[in-house]
Amino acid sequence: MAVAPGTTSKEGWSSRSAFILAAIGAAVGLGNIWRFPTLAGENGGGAFVLFYIGCVFLLGLPLVLSEIFIGRAGQTDAVGSIRKVARESRSSEKWSIFGGIGALAAFLIVSFYSVVAGWVLYYVGVMGADLLQAIVAGDPFRGALMGESQEAIQGRMGDLFANPMLLLGMHLVFMGATLFIVARGVSGGIEKAATILMPAFFVLLIGITIYGAVVGDIGEAAAFLFTPDWSLLTPQAMNEALGQALFSLSLGVAGLITYGSYIRENSGLGSTALTIAVADTSVALLSGLMIFPIVLAVGLDPAAGPTLVFQSLPFAFQTMPGGALIGFLFFVLILVAAVTSSISLLEVPTAWGIGELGWKRTTSSLIFGGGAFLIGIACLLGYNVWADVRPLSFWSIFAETDILDTIDGFTGKVMLPVGALLTALFIGWKADKNLLKVTTGLSSGSFAIFRFLIAWLCPLAVAIILVTGLFPGVLG
Ligand code: PFF
Repeated sequence: MAVAPGTTSKEGWSSRSAFILAAIGAAVGLGNIWRFPTLAGENGGGAFVLFYIGCVFLLGLPLVLSEIFIGRAGQTDAVGSIRKVARESRSSEKWSIFGGIGALAAFLIVSFYSVVAGWVLYYVGVMGADLLQAIVAGDPFRGALMGESQEAIQGRMGDLFANPMLLLGMHLVFMGATLFIVARGVSGGIEKAATILMPAFFVLLIGITIYGAVVGDIGEAAAFLFTPDWSLLTPQAMNEALGQALFSLSLGVAGLITYGSYIRENSGLGSTALTIAVADTSVALLSGLMIFPIVLAVGLDPAAGPTLVFQSLPFAFQTMPGGALIGFLFFVLILVAAVTSSISLLEVPTAWGIGELGWKRTTSSLIFGGGAFLIGIACLLGYNVWADVRPLSFWSIFAETDILDTIDGFTGKVMLPVGALLTALFIGWKADKNLLKVTTGLSSGSFAIFRFLIAWLCPLAVAIILVTGLFPGVLG
């Protein structure tokens, strides 16, 4: 059914808890399980982690609430929702531009997010085949990839990257699944996926964390993650922590505006926003407590970088009892988290197409899903056939980065902070205070703190991320 531009979306969540689950599903993703432990490891652990937690609650939480507010008040796609709030606040409708920037950023992010999720899918296959062999051999609780040398295990990632057809196949399956869910709509697709996948995710996360605590070195891991050495907290590390807080909470891409627009009832948005922020951060910390005991127990380097999860962990699972089974479940866990995030990313441009262009949901999701798939192909070719391509080579911060890293860097360093900055300025300075107070349902005290954070602290901090991200030289 085509809808006239700007009209209220007919779709909606079936309940408040359905929204919370879907929003947690959007927030919890590769960012929590892959990027957060990677960054914490690279930046020395404790001090980074504590600073990150501060960023989440002082900057992230007010932005989460702001985005949900815009969606709840606007009741349509991000651009239309901002336009409506601006109109009701007697501000310029031009503010809706940041909804458009967000939708474009979400579209670009999902293109490479699907490629990275494709690597995870490949490891689900590798570990699944290994588990199957273990079961057939009558030894289901053996370690993973027995008999393979460390070099061979680590070499798998290079082999995968050198194989465009394999990368393409994985990307196709993942994007296809994302598109399928989004095309089925809000309650029939996104909500259903979240209600099935998120409980499974939490069971796996807690189960594997307990496993890591039993067979690994949880004491050392906790010390690494929570004992701060403030000298390691460089300006660069702070910048990464701020950026990661935005990415992990899915901010700046209008994702929570879009999901918020499907909320029908009037209920405390403040507690909803808090639940999402607490859940997302808990999952990031638990992921650290799941991964580092295993990595440290076998003497691997916690600062291995982006390959930590893909190269170090499969090797660690070799020496662990039950490693074949747990290794397989571990990659299934990441895959589940990635799916519920990628659907939220694709939903942002899809909702825009429905709300602003009057397209049908199937048409809109196919166009944006298909477009993101094509950009993803360029990303994966950047690891092999187009390995020398540097799309933004004229720009010093991107001069050395391949296609995927360039899109990741441009969205993360430019588009996300710009989206978040405009959101903060709009809510902090332009949105009607009465509408804001009534819709969020905050008490007077909480409202005053919220207003201070969103009007002053958020814009300042996000502007710093933006400037230091674009001109790393100023960090020394
Ligand atoms: N928050 C997701 C993660 O941590 O993996 C990434 C993400 C999902 C960003 C959805 C933005 C978004 F709209």
